Amino acid sequence: MESSHFKLLEFTSRELLVDALAHKIVTALSLAIEQKGFATLLLSGGSTPKKLFAKLSNRALSWENVRVSLVDERCVSVQSEASNERLVRENLLINAAKSAQFYGLMELNSAFEDLFESPDVVVLGMGLDGHTASFFPEDSELGSALYGEEFFYKTTAPTEPRERITLSRRFLLQSQNLLLHIEGEEKKTVFIKATNAQTVEHYPIKAMMQQTTPLLEVYYAD
Ligand code: 6PG
Repeated sequence: MESSHFKLLEFTSRELLVDALAHKIVTALSLAIEQKGFATLLLSGGSTPKKLFAKLSNRALSWENVRVSLVDERCVSVQSEASNERLVRENLLINAAKSAQFYGLMELNSAFEDLFESPDVVVLGMGLDGHTASFFPEDSELGSALYGEEFFYKTTAPTEPRERITLSRRFLLQSQNLLLHIEGEEKKTVFIKATNAQTVEHYPIKAMMQQTTPLLEVYYAD
């Protein structure tokens, strides 16, 4: 069995988790701004990150120097409740973070690759089926999205909205900080199963633990 590389950070409450994760992200972004004048942040959608976005939106940072985008997107209108862009616009790009520069994934071109090259921070989520980003178990595009050379792929989710766009594993692994945010015992069980899985096919999150750099840092609370 291929070994899994990760660092698990367990918190006694979801609130403490969100505080620590927000601190980690802001520290990394500040450092990047200091070093190169701007910082890049790639975020996941779903329900888990809402409180994190709210917390981040109030943190002091020169947000006008932060480029924000998504790890993956559901191919729906930006007005749809299912849109990850809408989630970020409504929950993060408010308060202090209003001045951040947001780039959506619905109109991707090669400029994106330059703007987000070697991202400073990537925040992943994970589904109960072991998917992360839009890398879905047994999807016909899974192999390409995980091991292909392009910077993004179109994939298919097992549930609606099925059409997805995802940044590739190759692109995400250029990140300086690779963070996974999971909450609830059920997700921890799935995560542990993934670490012990023989192949990535049934647990795509495992593909983000095959390398030691960047090391996957898991932020977890029950
Ligand atoms: C998406 C995601 C996806 C998400 C997980 C976890 O658009 O669906 O980016 O990878 O992170 O599905 O979602 P929950 O937080 O809702 O469990």
